[in-house]
Amino acid sequence: MARRNIIAGIDVGTTKVCTIIAEINENKSADIIGIGTSPSTGLKKGMVVDIDDTVSSIQKAVTKAERMAGVEIESAFVGIAGSHISSTNSHGVVAVTGENKEITRHDIERVIEATKIISIPPEREIIHVLPREFIVDGCKDIKYPLGMSGVRLEAETHIITGSATSIQNLIKSIHKVGLDVAGIVLQPLAASKAVLTESDKDSGVLVDMGGGTTDIAIFKGGSVWYTSSLPVGGDHVTKDIAEWMRRNVIMTTSIADAERIKVQYGCASSEFVDEGDEIELVDSCSNQTRIFSRELLCEIIQFRVDEIFSLVHQEIIKAGYNGLTPSVMVVTGGGSLLKGIPEFASRKLRMPVRVGVPDNINSILEYLDGSIYDIGEGYTQFSEDNGAIFSTGVGLVHYGSENYEEYSEQDMNEELLIKNLFDTVGKWFKNIF
Ligand SMILES: Nc1ncnc2c1ncn2[C@@H]1O[C@H](COP(=O)(O)OP(=O)(O)OP(=O)(O)O)[C@@H](O)[C@H]1O
Ligand SMILES: [Mg+2]
Repeated sequence: MARRNIIAGIDVGTTKVCTIIAEINENKSADIIGIGTSPSTGLKKGMVVDIDDTVSSIQKAVTKAERMAGVEIESAFVGIAGSHISSTNSHGVVAVTGENKEITRHDIERVIEATKIISIPPEREIIHVLPREFIVDGCKDIKYPLGMSGVRLEAETHIITGSATSIQNLIKSIHKVGLDVAGIVLQPLAASKAVLTESDKDSGVLVDMGGGTTDIAIFKGGSVWYTSSLPVGGDHVTKDIAEWMRRNVIMTTSIADAERIKVQYGCASSEFVDEGDEIELVDSCSNQTRIFSRELLCEIIQFRVDEIFSLVHQEIIKAGYNGLTPSVMVVTGGGSLLKGIPEFASRKLRMPVRVGVPDNINSILEYLDGSIYDIGEGYTQFSEDNGAIFSTGVGLVHYGSENYEEYSEQDMNEELLIKNLFDTVGKWFKNIF
């Protein structure tokens, strides 16, 4: 039996699986005591495509984190993303039934329940129902109507659904490692818990740039307003580099080589590098030295980065946002570590952009050796400079600590989980702030 005050998050990403173990302290917040990562090979664009490979990556990441923390975990909050995720806004209305027409928690649960009466195809499951605002007798923008007087209670919610098959495959992978799923959490929602401030949530966009996906969550007035997942991420930049090297530099370039070139010399825009900068590399096949322009390399990268932020921009427009622009953008995830990303995004989208790094992990990263993705020497190392890679994992334990007392430790089979776990109505107020 796991110790009651231990909580774990597993970020099953396209590039790496990351397990974070935390201990809930007396202030009910999470102190991180273990981190374990392992390269991920069983996912494409955020979705499990090979259960055995996924299980083996999760197992390795869990074992490393357990060894570091000195505890064994029994369950974990698990992040989910991918193009199978979709979201919609919904509206519900109920009559207030309480004595003296005072709104009770039961009324709030009923009105949120009412927003769920939308047609969801049988192959999809609800992951989150996030209240955006309440309306009491026509009075809008109410965050927390408990105890207010009124006769008519309305709610606007943001409903996030995913493909039942993708969700089941993820749960199955966790079960095969011998763990229970304490909760399934949308990855950008988790990351937001680790890197957004309260004022960011008032009017801000979170962009989690991973390997295979770029996930977006737009916040307004403290609540999630819009979410979206784009099937493009940092790995596409790497593939573009490998292809360009093969064709233009006439050099055999594996994906691992292209990754190293990206991390070492890459930049989001060719305008941010010095004209005439040259890169000298030895082709491992022909043993010949190749010299090429860093500016040209970064031009290739810029095409893809520009595409990603054009898509992000379109999502912001789609979100509506009452015709306004969010005040701030926070980019996080491994893809945000590419040099020049915040500057490029800020210039393109005309808003302040910063890289979101979870605090309170620096001291623990100092103790970790080696490379995050195990690709080899010189690649992304464990250090506080790379903290953005851990945003989703750290956010999962924050999410877990907020919902800690509410999740049951009883064993749940997959069917029960699908039926009960995703419906967060019971925890609604904790998930929005
Ligand atoms: N220092 C760095 N500079 C540039 N890019 C980097 C750096 N470190 C990691 N990356 C890139 O970050 C991406 C992986 O990010 P991350 O670990 O957040 O992805 P993931 O969570 O596994 O994937 P996803 O969220 O898409 O499922 C890869 O494309 C990798 O090349
Ligand atoms: Mg990720």
